[in-house]
Amino acid sequence: MPLFNVYPLYDVTPVSGKGVYVYDEKGTEYLDLYGGHAVISIGHAHPKYVEAVTSQVSKLGFYSNAIQNPLQKELADKIEVLSGCKDYELFLCNSGAEANENALKLASFKTGKSRVLAFSNGFHGRTSAAVAATDNKNIIAPINAQQAVTILPLNDIEGVKKELEKGDVCAVIVEFIQGVGGLDEGSAEFFEAVDALCKVNNTMFIADEVQSGYGRSGKFFAFQHYNVTPNIISIAKGMGNGFPIGGILIHPDIEAKFGMLGTTFGGNHLACAAGLSVLNVIEEQKLIDNVNTMSEYFIKIAETIPQIKKIKGRGLMLGLEFDFEVGDLRKKLIYNHHIFTGGAANKKLLRILPPLTVKKEHITMFFEALIETLTEVETTVA
Ligand SMILES: Cc1ncc(COP(=O)(O)O)c(C=O)c1O
Repeated sequence: MPLFNVYPLYDVTPVSGKGVYVYDEKGTEYLDLYGGHAVISIGHAHPKYVEAVTSQVSKLGFYSNAIQNPLQKELADKIEVLSGCKDYELFLCNSGAEANENALKLASFKTGKSRVLAFSNGFHGRTSAAVAATDNKNIIAPINAQQAVTILPLNDIEGVKKELEKGDVCAVIVEFIQGVGGLDEGSAEFFEAVDALCKVNNTMFIADEVQSGYGRSGKFFAFQHYNVTPNIISIAKGMGNGFPIGGILIHPDIEAKFGMLGTTFGGNHLACAAGLSVLNVIEEQKLIDNVNTMSEYFIKIAETIPQIKKIKGRGLMLGLEFDFEVGDLRKKLIYNHHIFTGGAANKKLLRILPPLTVKKEHITMFFEALIETLTEVETTVA
């Protein structure tokens, strides 16, 4: 049976990984500065992660949410300690889209309203309400178009005020650093005004931390760079280091009722074991400190390269903008230098999302390869 052909693929077949590297079937080593879409947080095949997952699956991999599962509470407590988000409650699911879908649904339950406000060039996943909250027409099917969504440009405070005052908006959903869109950010003034406007208009403020969370921005959550308190925080990617797990942190203003949300697989034993080991490693290896040190090192070198027109993002969620489309550059980095990088909706942007364990030597390797490739391109053009 052929696979449903929705992904343009690079001709690379990784079969194993270790730290910031993956290896193909011939043993060729690739430096992974993309982390499989920002998923690999603590590095491939981290020994503590392998041990935690292996040991859990040999005991009990799964049971449904009809029984006591103390691992869920342990995970919730650890997220609270590491994130500093006191008072929130945790609902577990399996992916980023599912996290946002549940966040939007909760906002609607809580407020009794149904319109969603989102921002241009944002991305929140591909389930029904989540996919409707984007302005990328290519991924919205007619069935999703029935959702009431208004999309505004980032930083349009007056627009947000006008829409919220109409009284029918259940949620404002925002990425504090846009991922797929290309690392754009709103201003502090904007985010703080949106937070305040949500509070006076009975609208839930949803922080989509699916990509920017778990230390990637240099703080546990990207919203913590600002003075805001979201009602719901959605998490996924880095949470399981590749094991599918997602969740939402819910402010206790939103009261749980039996049956309000639910899932078969969400919060299963194996997922919780994976999630707990990720948090333990982030804590023990002080990975958020590493994010900040490596980010500074990366940006300092990037600033010396004249072909880079703009450096975007924070922490290890970074983008390098050029004045040409980067498709060929990414191919050369993969095929000639064995380095994975990412692209974005902004075709001129190279996305850098390495494991949070990345070291200076890897960043140096990347820049040597980048400079060589940029020189080759210029020589060819000349
Ligand atoms: C900010 C953001 N939200 C949601 C999602 C959707 O996550 P998933 O692919 O796990 O459904 C993504 C995925 O790229 C994302 O970047």
